[in-house]
Amino acid sequence: MATNRTFTMLKPDAVEKGHIGAILEKISASGFRIVALKLTQMTKADAQAFYAIHSERPFYGELVEYMTRGPIVAAVLEKDNAVEDFRTLIGATNPADAAEGTIRKLYAASIGENAVHGSDSDENAAIEGAFHFSGRDMF
Ligand code: RTP
Ligand code: MG
Repeated sequence: MATNRTFTMLKPDAVEKGHIGAILEKISASGFRIVALKLTQMTKADAQAFYAIHSERPFYGELVEYMTRGPIVAAVLEKDNAVEDFRTLIGATNPADAAEGTIRKLYAASIGENAVHGSDSDENAAIEGAFHFSGRDMF
C-alpha cells in the first residue's frame, strides 16, 4: 500500500448508534478518498490478532469483546499525509481529551468505546488494510 493511505474501522458502537453515514460524510468532506469499504464482523481471533500489540494491557479482553460484538465498517482511505491527518480528524483516544469537531468528540462515548480506529503508522496502515482487504478490493 502506498504511504498516502491509512486504514480505519467504524467500531461497533458507531454502527449500533447509526453513525455510519455521518462519519463517512465527515471523512469524505475532510479530503479522504475511499479506496476500499465494507461492513463486516470480526471474529474473536480476528480482534485478538488485530490488537495483538495490546495483549498484555488490562483492557485487552474488554477490547476484544467490544470489537466483536457487532458489525464494523472497515475502510482504506487515501490522502496526502493520510495517517497523521486521519489521527488528527479522529481526535484523542479518550473522547474527553479529543479536540472540538473531531470524530471521537462528536461520536465516542468513552476511552473504551471510542467510535473509530485509525492506523498509527504507514507500516501499520499497510498491514491493517491487507488484514481486511485483498488487492482486488482496493480501488
Ligand atoms: P485505535 O488503535 O483503535 O485507533 O485507538 P488508539 O490508537 O487511539 O488507542 P490505542 O492505545 O491503540 O488503544 C486501542 C483501543 O483500545 C481501547 N482502549 N481502552 N479502557 C482503556 O483504558 C482503553 N484504552 C484503550 C480503545 O478502544 C482504543 O481505541
Ligand atoms: Mg492504536
